[in-house]
Amino acid sequence: MDGFAFMPPSLETSVENSRSVNSRGYAVPKVAPAPDVNQAVVPPRKASDGQEGHCCSRCDEEQEDAHYGEVCYSLLSYADDAESELQSISENFSAADPEDLPLLKHSLSEMLDQMSHCVRINDEFLKMLVLSDCDAKQFWQVPPDHQVQERNSVKVRTVLRQFVRDWADEGAKEREVQYGCLLDALERHVPKTGGQNSKKPRVLTPGSGLSRLPFECARRGYAAQGNEFSYHMLQGCKWVLNETEAERSHTIFPFVLNLENRRDALDHVRPVVIPDVCPSKILCPPGVEPNPEDFSMCAGEFVSVYEEQIEEWDAVLTCFFLDTAKNVFLYIRTIADIIRPGGLWANIGPLLYHYAEQPGQISIELSWEEVKPEIAKYFDFKEEDFREALYTTNPKGMYRTRYNCIYFAAIRNDVEAEGESNPVFE
Ligand SMILES: C[S@@+](CC[C@H](N)C(=O)[O-])C[C@H]1O[C@@H](n2cnc3c(N)ncnc32)[C@H](O)[C@@H]1O
Repeated sequence: MDGFAFMPPSLETSVENSRSVNSRGYAVPKVAPAPDVNQAVVPPRKASDGQEGHCCSRCDEEQEDAHYGEVCYSLLSYADDAESELQSISENFSAADPEDLPLLKHSLSEMLDQMSHCVRINDEFLKMLVLSDCDAKQFWQVPPDHQVQERNSVKVRTVLRQFVRDWADEGAKEREVQYGCLLDALERHVPKTGGQNSKKPRVLTPGSGLSRLPFECARRGYAAQGNEFSYHMLQGCKWVLNETEAERSHTIFPFVLNLENRRDALDHVRPVVIPDVCPSKILCPPGVEPNPEDFSMCAGEFVSVYEEQIEEWDAVLTCFFLDTAKNVFLYIRTIADIIRPGGLWANIGPLLYHYAEQPGQISIELSWEEVKPEIAKYFDFKEEDFREALYTTNPKGMYRTRYNCIYFAAIRNDVEAEGESNPVFE
């Protein structure tokens, strides 16, 4: 998969404006190059020359397909994963003293019935993400002997939580704090009429998860592109952007398997209604012809996809993305390369470093004091402060991680990005 243009549900994905269509038939938006998605969808390569385990592009494509299949199968198999979790919950509760069980607000069987019901609804939703997508047709049937890897089951549950953050009323507060400051900086520093060739200014949001941030940029009149390398997220994006026809059309139960840190006995079976807004209704109201350049998602590893798009972007917005780098210098140089002089980089996020403590993974973990001077070589800081932020937090839960995020808005100077950085995903 390379990318897909946002299209309203009633229309076919446009290939007319695309540069290429890959084996699964997704149109690559004109604004995006054909990205090297192989790096995004196969496990990171070990060899520094990047060739280990790959003999030709056909093998790469086979590996990519295999990985995409794994992702689809994991979405289709949520019920199995959840049922085994319910089984162990049942076993754990059965270990309680029979005299204590009546203290439960609802009997164990009642509670398990409720949870099974919610799991069934989640399962239908997650299946729909795959089954509504004809491009995933070859993976609609899970092979009988297929075993879903645990890391993929975890990502399936993450998709449900990410829907709360990006597309539910309950995520509004997180979005307001985090996307809000980036969007405000965009409107302050990048006037809508000031784009190259008098077109809409072009805004890129790398690592855009379920695509709410690029959608909000497009909604405000910018030509926005989201970039994401997780097929789990991309499958969610495709549905919410291309398939939804009305707001509040679906209900999910993102917390159903989380019994810890509940305040009230029924908190885990709390329904969440999505989407809070219908992207196609907002971006393509009746009579408006969609323009793939106004909004698109591009699949692939950020550096591989964009490193040659020198000075092509008026703004880059990064939210909880900078620390996904194994080598943050490479991200900084790439962002410096792709933003035109005078363009904006606005960022909010922690320095948690996603690859920290992952066995066998390189992770260069620098402090903000060390990262900032590298950014300051190429950007003039206009705004900088620390802001508290939550991330996919259950608003009703008794536990939350509060990040003290670095927020900045910085303008690209005319110093050419220099130096070499080791690749992030090789
Ligand atoms: C912590 S999440 C943040 C998602 C979104 N920006 C938000 O604030 O909700 C980081 C996202 O970046 C994606 N990502 C990580 N490294 C990436 C890379 N090198 N290229 C593209 N996407 C990447 C992950 O798949 C994940 O969806």
